[in-house]
Amino acid sequence: MKLSFVSVLFLSAGMAQADVPTNAPYREYDPMENYVPNVKGDLQLSKSYIYWKDPKNLDWRMAGNPEENWKLNWKFMDPPFNASVHGGHFAADRGETIFLELNKTGSFATCLGARKGSLKGLRTRYPMDRPDLKRVAGLEEVIERCAGKEGRILQNGSYDNSAVSVYVASQSTGMPININVTSSAPLKAAFERGRKLFHTRVGRFNLACSSCHTHQIGLHLRGTVVTSPYGDAAHYPVYRTRYQLQSMHLRFAECNLDARTQPLLPGSRAYTDIEVFLTGLSNGYPVSVPSERD
Ligand code: HEC
Repeated sequence: MKLSFVSVLFLSAGMAQADVPTNAPYREYDPMENYVPNVKGDLQLSKSYIYWKDPKNLDWRMAGNPEENWKLNWKFMDPPFNASVHGGHFAADRGETIFLELNKTGSFATCLGARKGSLKGLRTRYPMDRPDLKRVAGLEEVIERCAGKEGRILQNGSYDNSAVSVYVASQSTGMPININVTSSAPLKAAFERGRKLFHTRVGRFNLACSSCHTHQIGLHLRGTVVTSPYGDAAHYPVYRTRYQLQSMHLRFAECNLDARTQPLLPGSRAYTDIEVFLTGLSNGYPVSVPSERD
C-alpha cells in the first residue's frame, strides 16, 4: 500500500516533469505588452489620448454617450470640467482637518516627504521609494505609517486615510505626475513587477487586468466600455457616488472581485507594484483631485 502510494507520487512527478518545461511560469500570462511610461504612450495603445489630452478640445457630445465615453477615459469628470461640489470636496475638507491636527509640529508633513513643509507637488512624486520602509510605497500607506507616529490610527483604505490622501493630492492639482520608473532602480523594478502582475491571469475567470484594460479597450463589457490604463492614476483617490471614497487599491480590489479573484489588502506589495505601473503610465498627466466617478 505504502509502496504504491509512493510510486503514484513518483509517477505523477515524473509526468509533470515530462510535460512542463522547467522554466515555465506557474501562471498563465496575457500577451505581454510594452508600455511607454508616459500618458502619450496611449497613442500606441487606444489613441484615446487624442480626445482628452487638452481640456479645451474635449468634445462634450461624447460625455454620457456609452459608445463614446471611453474615448474621454472619464477625464471629463475631473476638474476643471466638473466644478460642482461633490463628495470629493467634502473629503478634502475632512482630510485638511485631520492633516492639521496631525501636523501641529510639522513632523507629519516631513514624514510624508513634504519639502520645506509644503505639500505642493508631493502627490506627483508618489509612489516613492521609502528607505525607512525599505520599499516603494504609495501615499495612503505612508499616511498610515506617519499618522501612527503621531499616535493616530488611519488605516489604509479607511475613509479618513483616503480623505487625507485627497487633501494632500489636491495641493498638487494641475501639476503633472512625475515618477522615475526608467532610471530609479527600486521604482523601475516595481514598475516591471507591476507590468507583469497586470498581465497575470488569476481567479475563477482566469482574467488578467490587461485582459480587460489593454486587450478590450473600447469594447463592451456588459454595460461598460473599457478605458485604457493611461492617465487613471492621476485622479485617485476618487469620490464614487456608490462608495464614498475609493483609493487606487480599493479600486483594484473591486476589479478583482468583479473578475472573481481573491482581493488583496490595501498596501499589499502586489497592489503597490501595480500602482507604480499605472502611475508610470500617468507620467505627464496633471493630478486631478478631487474627482468624481459614478
Ligand atoms: C473583467 C474585466 C476587468 C478586469 C479583469 C479588471 N478590470 Fe479594472 N475596470 C473594469 C471596468 C469595467 C472598469 C470601469 C470602467 C473603466 O473605468 O474602465 C474598471 C475600472 C478600473 C480602474 C478605474 C478607472 C478610472 O477611470 O477610474 C482602474 C484603475 C482599474 N480598473 C484597474 C484594474 C486593475 C489593476 C486590474 C487587475 C488587478 C483590473 N482593473 C482588472 C474592468 C476590469
